[in-house]
Amino acid sequence: MILEIKDLHVSLEDKEIINGLSLKMEQGETHVIMGPNGSGKSTLAKTILGHPHVKVTKGDILVDGKSILDMTTDERAKLGLFLQFQNPVEVEGVGFINFLHTAKENLRGNTVSAKDFMKDIRANVSELKMGDDFIGRSLNMGFSGGEKKKAEVLQMAVLKPKIAILDEPDSGLDIDAIKVVSASVNKIAQAEKLGLLIITHYSRILSFIKPDFIHVMVNGRIVAEGGKELVDQLEKEGYDKYLK
Ligand SMILES: Nc1ncnc2c1ncn2[C@@H]1O[C@H](COP(=O)(O)OP(=O)(O)O)[C@@H](O)[C@H]1O
Ligand SMILES: [Mg+2]
Repeated sequence: MILEIKDLHVSLEDKEIINGLSLKMEQGETHVIMGPNGSGKSTLAKTILGHPHVKVTKGDILVDGKSILDMTTDERAKLGLFLQFQNPVEVEGVGFINFLHTAKENLRGNTVSAKDFMKDIRANVSELKMGDDFIGRSLNMGFSGGEKKKAEVLQMAVLKPKIAILDEPDSGLDIDAIKVVSASVNKIAQAEKLGLLIITHYSRILSFIKPDFIHVMVNGRIVAEGGKELVDQLEKEGYDKYLK
């Protein structure tokens, strides 16, 4: 699967947040978007998944050469896109595991036996070092920041998307949890030939997840691109020179 963003312009409540952003990535590659707070990174993630509040005013988003802008979020997910939100929603009364099972059947378009499904869940719950009580809880209700992130990696492991967009996957995680989450993400990425688009404003997670390409995003556009050396440079110099 190829995801291509072409000269994208996006507004939120009539304010232009993304202005002329282009990016192309393939399944199997790990791309990282780094940028300071407020540069439009989360808005980009929401736009790719078709959040109702964002308005694309110009440009296009293509999957395998076909525009997805007219598709619903559900249709985009069925193509194999997955979005991990920076601040996941909490839903009282919706069991996490039931939610995931339904989501998987919906994506697949067929039934998945409870036995197979639970086997997959248990393996990943253990891999992610999540407590077993997790399985009985409501979707994100009362989850700590770290548990929400792990829950989302669990979703990714079970739903097996082709390209996943992870928005600040390390936010709210202590160093041990970052290691556990990163190890799982790496394992899924290898096993499933997953494409990763990781959005972050800290380089910390890049000690554990190796990027192929770095894109620096400032004020709604890409201002620099390169490999791992860009991370080291940003680490030393910050975003200052791009903000001028
Ligand atoms: N619902 C909204 N309406 C209007 N402006 C918004 C809304 N949400 C975010 N913004 C603005 O959009 C800009 C980019 O936000 P965001 O995409 O969250 O940036 P980042 O994820 O890079 O920190 C910010 O200036 C923010 O204030
Ligand atoms: Mg953000």
